[in-house]
Amino acid sequence: MSDLENQVEEVKSSFDRAVVSIATTDALQKLKVQYLGKKGALTVLLKSLGSLSPEERPLAGETLNALRDALEQKIEDKRQTLIRAEDAEAEALGRVDVTLPPRGRPAGAFHPVAQTMHEIVAIMQGLGYSVALGPEIEEDYYNFECLNMPSWHPARDMQDTFYFPDSEESDGETSKRRLLRTHTSPVQVRAMLRYGAPLRIVCPGRVYRRDNDPTHSPMFNQLEGLLVEKDVSFSVLKGSLIELMNGFFGRELKSRFRASYFPFTEPSMELDIECVECGGKNSNCRVCRGTGWLEVCGMGMTHPFVIRAGGIDPEEYNGFAFGMGLDRMAMLKYGINDLRYLFDGNVSYFLSGRDA
Ligand code: DAH
Repeated sequence: MSDLENQVEEVKSSFDRAVVSIATTDALQKLKVQYLGKKGALTVLLKSLGSLSPEERPLAGETLNALRDALEQKIEDKRQTLIRAEDAEAEALGRVDVTLPPRGRPAGAFHPVAQTMHEIVAIMQGLGYSVALGPEIEEDYYNFECLNMPSWHPARDMQDTFYFPDSEESDGETSKRRLLRTHTSPVQVRAMLRYGAPLRIVCPGRVYRRDNDPTHSPMFNQLEGLLVEKDVSFSVLKGSLIELMNGFFGRELKSRFRASYFPFTEPSMELDIECVECGGKNSNCRVCRGTGWLEVCGMGMTHPFVIRAGGIDPEEYNGFAFGMGLDRMAMLKYGINDLRYLFDGNVSYFLSGRDA
């Protein structure tokens, strides 16, 4: 073996011995400098090429370049292995550097509730509805009074409201009292006053109530719908909501309409759909509690009082309204069994790959 071949062997085997004991990316960087840096073992050999005869040089050059490529490759392989191990360790310790760019997974995704809202809005847009938004800090008048719930109305007890303390008295003028809206229904009257009739709108948004337990959050999301036209019948409302539910869940579901009560609709109904978890086949089902039905939406023919509050003549126009919880819809569709997951910063539940 020539002198150079001996030296190449020597560098190669000492590198191989050294690299196996490297345990951190910092140590790996030092090893790289030791071999490939300005004064590195391999660099010294490459520099010695100049002292060889012109006949010896090409072959020696080829051998050394091949060695350099091999070392660079081994360093890169080792670097990847170390990064993975360091990531796994950091994750196990809960020490994840959130400022690092994501590896492997596509960056960013919609929150399940936002995704649900987009899907429902898209279906309703297909039925000719536009999106209307209203304020989350609302006046008593829009949240209650114009919806046929005067201050003495017992239906106000159904909603425990966050009032703004500074507006509690408001010179005795209750209608101007400010509060966090308890539902998206106030957008109905705001939209009628703004756009007039005919009107088809959906109003998604955050709402607030004094509720906080495993199945209730003080902030949650609703979507309201309102249609005001001439000679609207209840069957149009039924058909639209069946279309919405089937479209959202992606199949034809059994549904039933139950008589109910809301001050702003007359008559009022609630829509139940067949249990999307068990299809009504499991008497121990945790989602429908064995009833086979899921309550998903309140609705009814808009009360003439509300149409009039919207500046529209109820003799000329009538309509219907409906309201549903978007968090609940997201939980049903994506099989999320605890409301708190939706408001948690820990995304691992959603990244665990449950199919929709
Ligand atoms: N606002 C009601 C609630 O928060 C939901 C609702 C029921 C909205 C019936 C409607 C409706 O528009 O017609 O519980």
